Amino acid sequence: MSVKKITADELRSMRWFGPDDLRSFGHRSRVKQMGLHLDEFKGRPVIGIINPWNEMNTCHTHFPQRVQDIKRGILEAGGFPVELPALSLGEQLMKPTTMMYRNFLAMETEELLRSYPIDGAVLMGGCDKTTPGVLMGAISMNLPSIYVPGGAMLRGNWRGETLGSGTDVWKYWAERRAGNLDEDSWNEIEDGIARSPGTCMTMGTAATMMSLAEALGMSLPGASSIPAVDASHQRMCTLSGRRIVEMVWEQFLPSEILTMQAYENAIMVDMAIGGSTNAIIHLTALAGRSEIPLNLESFDRVSAGIPLLLNLRPSGKYLMEDFYYAGGLRALLKQLEGSLHLEAVTVNGKSLGENIRNAEIYEKDVIRNLDNPVQRSGGTAILRGSLAPDGAVIKPTAAEQRLWKHKGPAVVFKNYQDLKNRIDSDDLEVDANSVLILQNAGPVGAPGMPEWGQLPIPKKLLEQGIRDMVRISDARMSGTSYGACILHVSPESALGSPLALVEDGDLIELDVEARKLDLLVESDELEERKNRWQAPESRYRRGFARLYQEHVSQANLGCDFDFLLGTPGETREPDIF
Ligand code: FES
Repeated sequence: MSVKKITADELRSMRWFGPDDLRSFGHRSRVKQMGLHLDEFKGRPVIGIINPWNEMNTCHTHFPQRVQDIKRGILEAGGFPVELPALSLGEQLMKPTTMMYRNFLAMETEELLRSYPIDGAVLMGGCDKTTPGVLMGAISMNLPSIYVPGGAMLRGNWRGETLGSGTDVWKYWAERRAGNLDEDSWNEIEDGIARSPGTCMTMGTAATMMSLAEALGMSLPGASSIPAVDASHQRMCTLSGRRIVEMVWEQFLPSEILTMQAYENAIMVDMAIGGSTNAIIHLTALAGRSEIPLNLESFDRVSAGIPLLLNLRPSGKYLMEDFYYAGGLRALLKQLEGSLHLEAVTVNGKSLGENIRNAEIYEKDVIRNLDNPVQRSGGTAILRGSLAPDGAVIKPTAAEQRLWKHKGPAVVFKNYQDLKNRIDSDDLEVDANSVLILQNAGPVGAPGMPEWGQLPIPKKLLEQGIRDMVRISDARMSGTSYGACILHVSPESALGSPLALVEDGDLIELDVEARKLDLLVESDELEERKNRWQAPESRYRRGFARLYQEHVSQANLGCDFDFLLGTPGETREPDIF
């Protein structure tokens, strides 16, 4: 039963529509211009539906219909829905990388909610950076908000074989480069790997962030696992629409939901689902907006003892559709009951514990229990050492275990173009023991920290049957990727960090269990190299890329802009009407 804490006169939107003055006359008369009666919008919760949709976002093709489902729910509950289109971050087609535009979407979300007469928000998201983007903006504005996950697409299919987004692309591309896959087969895979609306259906960044938004308490229980094209997805949208209207009356705010406990729950879930390495950056950025002190140590501390329970690619075998049929996120959360903060409150007004009370596993190989985990330790490990003084990240569950402890000589690529030019060259001095290094691929250096971190295996090694080797960069990698890829090295090389000083032949030592990553070069020698080092010149003189390079924080801090951290406090509301 929802408890009304405010009256119609206290709605935020009434500041626009309520007063008997010239300004408000203008506001009301122009809403009536859209064909609306006064009682359709005045005194009702005005709900802004932040919709990051456009025709270039291949994962959000169902959003125009889902908006109608959400609106239906809002109207049923007595609210007034307004769709607010926002920058759509289509992972596949947007260049140089959607990561560069995540903060743009966050700013747009915050400013849309601030500048219009909005009482509450429905945040639509799915494709990778859209979820953190809309959440970051909404957290800063701190109006009642509910997140609606876009849902994953159906399983891929090729000649009776199940195909997973990204994961199987990398796998079959390696076979194609090794000469084991003909053109017809390759074209058939292209036809069958993405065959419905929805996000990537492996545990990539999209599925990870949708799951974590639910674990944080920002979406209805069970929402994140529903396939995009399932009729349940539409019903979930309608229920979310109904619920946000109640949340406005209750003045139930994101700040009440997104506590330290909620973030710790999300970290535990991230480990248990084998979540994308990108989640560490995004959760850190979200926490930065919530003014919750989350850092890489928090991830290590909270994730200790949490096993990998979800058998999904790239760390396991199945896909998101299987996860849904197996019981979905609620069933997985139930397995973590002993560790989670069950008292954490969620958007439906109930605690996490209440939401998962009756959850069950229906497919025991897909969602494992604690007695039979996919792996004893969770999905992501934080590394430190002389090569990464502020940290780096690896997903051991997606790497060949023999490489967890490794020492080898560096083969250095100065930037992405250098990598593309030389990686398949016959002259490249490389063997299976080598450690591939990519420089200048970080937040400032690239800019935007693209998903270049899964450096390709050199062709000559592929032909020898090598399918994994240690690779290190300050870039990110797609959550659907796999391999012994060490990512997010901080500080990044464009700032003259130790990663910038690595030269061909330097010995690198990795020890995942000891959480160590070291550059075995004497400090005197490094000092000398540092004195010779010159910062790469930026090609950006203007525009958003310039703003980005000047204000983005390092990966270990979440890559938010320095001027966006926290909440706006007394500047939350427009001053002049
Ligand atoms: Fe949109 Fe993967 S491309 S989620």
